Amino acid sequence: MCHHNRFLLLNVAKSDIISLVFQVDETLCPFKLSQEQLQLVKARMRAGLEAGLKTKGSSAIKMLPSYVYRTPDGTEHGKYLALDLGGTNFRAMMVNFKRQNARLYHKIYTIPLEIMQGTGEELFDHIAQCVSDFLDYMGMKNAHLPAGFTFSFPCEQTAIDTVSVDIKVLWGWRTGTNVCYMEEVDAELSKMCINTEWGGLGDDGSLDDIITPYDMEVNQNSINPGRQRFEKLTSGMYLGEIVRQVLLDLTRGGLLFRGHVTETLKTPGIFETKYLSQIERWEKLCVRSILQQLGLKGTCDDSIIVKEVCGAVSRRAAQLCGAGMAAVVDKIRENRGLDHLNITVGVDGALYKLHPHFSRVLKDTTEVLAPQCNVTFLPSEEGSGKGAALISAVARQMHADSLSGTLLDIMQQFRRELAKGLGRDTNPTAALKMLPTFVRSIPDGSEKGDFIALDLGGSNFRILRVKVSHEKKQTVQMESQIYDTPEDIIHGSGTRLFDHVAECLGDFMEKQNIKDKKLPVGFTFSFPCQQTKLDEGFLITWTKRFKAGGVEGMDVVKLLNKAIKKRGDYDADIMAVVNDTVGTMMTCGFDDQRCEVGIIIGTGTNACYMEELRNIDLVEGDEGRMCVNTEWGAFGDDGRLEDIRTEFDREIDRGSINPGKQLFEKMVSGMYMGELVRLILVKMAREGLVFEGRITPELLTKGKFETKHISAIEKSKEGLSKAREILTRLGVEPSTDDFSLVSQVCTVVSFRSANLIAAALAGILMRLKENKGVARLRTTVGIDGSLYKMHPQYARRLHKAVRRLVPDTDVRFLLSESGSGKGAAMVTAVAYRLTYSSRIFWSYLQSVHAFFSIYHRNVF
Ligand code: BG6
Ligand code: GLC
Repeated sequence: MCHHNRFLLLNVAKSDIISLVFQVDETLCPFKLSQEQLQLVKARMRAGLEAGLKTKGSSAIKMLPSYVYRTPDGTEHGKYLALDLGGTNFRAMMVNFKRQNARLYHKIYTIPLEIMQGTGEELFDHIAQCVSDFLDYMGMKNAHLPAGFTFSFPCEQTAIDTVSVDIKVLWGWRTGTNVCYMEEVDAELSKMCINTEWGGLGDDGSLDDIITPYDMEVNQNSINPGRQRFEKLTSGMYLGEIVRQVLLDLTRGGLLFRGHVTETLKTPGIFETKYLSQIERWEKLCVRSILQQLGLKGTCDDSIIVKEVCGAVSRRAAQLCGAGMAAVVDKIRENRGLDHLNITVGVDGALYKLHPHFSRVLKDTTEVLAPQCNVTFLPSEEGSGKGAALISAVARQMHADSLSGTLLDIMQQFRRELAKGLGRDTNPTAALKMLPTFVRSIPDGSEKGDFIALDLGGSNFRILRVKVSHEKKQTVQMESQIYDTPEDIIHGSGTRLFDHVAECLGDFMEKQNIKDKKLPVGFTFSFPCQQTKLDEGFLITWTKRFKAGGVEGMDVVKLLNKAIKKRGDYDADIMAVVNDTVGTMMTCGFDDQRCEVGIIIGTGTNACYMEELRNIDLVEGDEGRMCVNTEWGAFGDDGRLEDIRTEFDREIDRGSINPGKQLFEKMVSGMYMGELVRLILVKMAREGLVFEGRITPELLTKGKFETKHISAIEKSKEGLSKAREILTRLGVEPSTDDFSLVSQVCTVVSFRSANLIAAALAGILMRLKENKGVARLRTTVGIDGSLYKMHPQYARRLHKAVRRLVPDTDVRFLLSESGSGKGAAMVTAVAYRLTYSSRIFWSYLQSVHAFFSIYHRNVF
């Protein structure tokens, strides 16, 4: 029985809990290494290093010479291409050494799993493609740069191709683990960098006494059983798997998840190492929500146990690395004949950087086991200097860099907000207004007719004619025209705005030659409206750029009808007013019957979805479903997002036409993202980190940096030349470093947007899944909006984040190619059919009544 036991102190009350604690503790005992065991590991590592140097590659630790004879001394200059393969991604970098400074530009490329596990040829073809793309991006396609290849797998080298950068000891710890250091090789050359390949320690059985049955299982299931044993105890690729094996064992023993072994738990690789970092960092509730994402329904006690397991596995890994490190630094000290050594170890790797305790435990263990060495661990920073550091700080502040724990929290909060908005008593104080739309189903294929659709509120004001016919199959024909909506009109009086809409409609009908007809009109009005029926919508509040006076609180259908009547030159029958999200869902629903969510990611952002009527307290009836307009742009208006709002978000809000409102929208949507980038750049320039500290009047002008510029800069092909053009227009003379920093700022801001929207959408999908009571949800999400459509990476990032957040869902994302007009026409078609069939019914009733009155009179 192990002596450290937090459970015991926490839960002494019940005897069954104590017995549970004992049994869990027993299971975790082999992971708790004593000081003596760690000393032994250090000694074995040292012996392994010596044996590797002597036997030149035939022992467990390979000690491969790298033919790098010195670390940089500041005299290096010129441009080099550096390629880094072997971690989770492939990274192409351009390093420019200039007067003791190294500037770094880089781009990260993910390597698809099928390529990673495919043939060598496929892998190198893919890499060649990425390099070509990178050179294109840097505008250096024809330059012949010397290239260095960081290939993070063991290689036998006989000569060096290029210079590589190192400190005294470089310790890599990403998906694998490895160390290189400067070793005395012979009297003349003095030192050469040796790539230890220390992950091989134990391949000769020297670690068998500390290897647990769980490690054995992981080893057996790996692609290289019996090899890289030390790596399999310590590195990112395996820790999650070890934890999963322990959890499986505890569950089988009835100590976890009520003894219920799920398919998920049996799935190799499902428990990723990043979850260790998240679980050890976060509170019980978060642990539970992570488990839920994995399909594991845990109790509070389960969460504590899972956290304990993660802690034991990660702590052992850090301690083992500390023991190995102690052996390396002691060897360097002895090589140099010193009593005491001060040394810097450069460290890289996701777990080292992201895990809350790993770096501390590593340092503590190294210090205890190598008391004659003073070791400073220096995490490697990406990007160039202080500018990059500020960007990382902003990225951290913006939670843009895949902090999925935060996203899970946001998703859960969003779900709670959905429920709050639906409840009769809670709705008045809820941030999400959850507006009933009176749309009860998506198109069923029977719609037909000739319609007009007005589409007001996005970046364009559009009028469309939509003809739906039924010859053999349903076909749609559309003609449209875009009209201006000048600033003075959207900020003027409501009367002027609706007069303008009526005038444009008149013009459109004139051009279509239909001024004498009274066609049914569907009105896409992209603002929050309170509805009690389809053809009535009271504007709750203006959002985005609109601020016309005297419209809030009014029925926009009435206002438009009034404007049309006032003209008197044509007539129109406005049959439905729909939000653009609803129009989008209906447009996509026309092509895919599974579509039950509509999203806009454009000037503004919003979503609607089909909710069970029994859950919508604000509408009578329990049967069937109704589309609800969430107005998610207002998420956070009650202060719920304060933790993640940054100084830049607050500044945007202060300068907006509706301070304190639409706070989520202001963090993520197209109207504000460019401005967010501009504000960050101004701060960076003020601190002298970009543009040599020069701030031009253009840079200080609100709105000068637009969201479309973010999309242009993040394009892999012409990104760099576009950045040059855009920055030149801002009056700055950008250096090549500035390009790289500006593009990083754009990525931080757009990544955060995609992640936050993914969290909210995941909340809706979870709700749909719960409503339907299915284990796996299959659904389609209709999407529209300029940001989603124009940004080169946005859609991919969003889809990926959503699938990560709701893994048990098959989501199809369907882009609404034809805008929301078609969908609005579909809603109008249904409204038209219902109205006219009821009109026909009423006139039929009236004639029957008239007949009987006459009959009655005549007969009696
Ligand atoms: C259009 C839809 O395609 O997208 C509009 O037809 C919608 O109804 C718009 O408002 C949203 O995107 P953006 O980028 O124009 O705000
Ligand atoms: C704003 C509006 C909302 C609309 C969205 C997308 O958030 O309030 O109604 O759907 O923008 O255009």
